[in-house]
Amino acid sequence: MSVDASERILRWYDSNARRLPWRARGGAVPDPYKVWLSEIMLQQTTVAAVRGYYEAFTTRWPTVEALAAAEDGEVMAAWAGLGYYARARNLVACARQVAALGDFPDTEAELLKLPGIGRYTAAAVAAIAFGQRAVVVDANVERVVSRLFAIEEALPGARPALHALADTITPEKRAGDFAQAMMDIGATICTPRAPACGICPLMAECAARRAGAPEAFPVKAAKKARPRRRGNAYWLQHDGHVLLVRRPGKGMLGGMLGLPTGAWAESAEPGEGAPAAARWVDAGSVDHVFTHFALNLRLYCAPAQGREAGEIWWPVERIEEAGLPTLFAKLAARGLAWQKAA
Ligand code: ADE
Repeated sequence: MSVDASERILRWYDSNARRLPWRARGGAVPDPYKVWLSEIMLQQTTVAAVRGYYEAFTTRWPTVEALAAAEDGEVMAAWAGLGYYARARNLVACARQVAALGDFPDTEAELLKLPGIGRYTAAAVAAIAFGQRAVVVDANVERVVSRLFAIEEALPGARPALHALADTITPEKRAGDFAQAMMDIGATICTPRAPACGICPLMAECAARRAGAPEAFPVKAAKKARPRRRGNAYWLQHDGHVLLVRRPGKGMLGGMLGLPTGAWAESAEPGEGAPAAARWVDAGSVDHVFTHFALNLRLYCAPAQGREAGEIWWPVERIEEAGLPTLFAKLAARGLAWQKAA
C-alpha cells in the first residue's frame, strides 16, 4: 500500500497544491531563505496569520544577508503579533550564522545545528529547499497518518510511532512535495472536525475511515487545566509619551517592548511592581492565553512627575508603531481610552 499511497498523494498535489507565496512554482528552484523563513513562521501558526508577515519580511529583508544585518529590535517589532517570540530571537541568530557560513547547509544534520531549527524544521528545509529525502511531520501530518493507520495510542506518546509510519510512506524522490502534499491534505481535507473523506486521495486505504470514525483520531491524552496567573501592568504617561520597557531576552515575550508589569503569579496586590509612586487609576483588566498558562493583567494608569535618563518613552500617538506583542497591544488600547477620558 505504501508506494501506491505516496504516488497518489504526489499526483493529487500536482493538481491541488495550495498556492502559497513561499512555494516555488512551475519547476522553479526553491529559495532556501524563503523556505526556512516560512517554516519558522508557520510553527504553531496558521497560513492565514503568516501570509502578511511573510510578505512584509521578504520585502524588507529579501535575503538572509539582509536579515542578518538587521537590528534585533527591528526584527522583534516586525514579528509583533505573530507570537512565540523566541522564534524571532532565534531567527536573527540563525540568519547571522548562515550569513557567516555563506549559505544554508543542505542536510538535515547540519541544519539541526542552527539556532531555532529543530527536528521538524530541519526535515522541512532539507526536503523542500534541497530535495533531500527527509521525514517531515507536523500536527497536520500527524493527524493524516494517525487516521490512515487508525493509531489507537494517544498523543503525545504516539509521536515516535507516527513519525516511523510517516517514514514508511515517504518517497525517495520529491520528499518536499510529498511533505507539503500531506500538510495540504491535513489543512484542507483531513481537518480535525468534519473531514472531507469523499475527496481524499487516501480514501481507499484510510483505516480510520473504514472504521467509520475518522474524527476519533488522533487520540489525545486528557489535557491538564491551564493554570491561571495574575499581575499588574502600568501605563505611565508624561508629556504625550508612555513608559515602555524592553523585556529580558529570556522568558515570556523575551526581547519585546512592553508596558512595565509586576510579577505574574497566583495573585497580585494593587500597586505591586509599579514603576513609580503615582495616583494609579484602575483601567480594567485584560486576559491573554499562552500555551502553558492563562494570564490576567490589570492595568493601572497615571500621569508621571518626570522622566529618568535611560528610560524608553514612546509617543502615545504612535503607539501602534512600537511593535508591541498582542498582550501589550490590548493593554495599550485601555491606556489610550484612559488618556482620552482623563
Ligand atoms: N505548514 C508548515 N509548512 C507548510 C508548508 N510548507 N506548506 C503548507 N503548510 C505548511
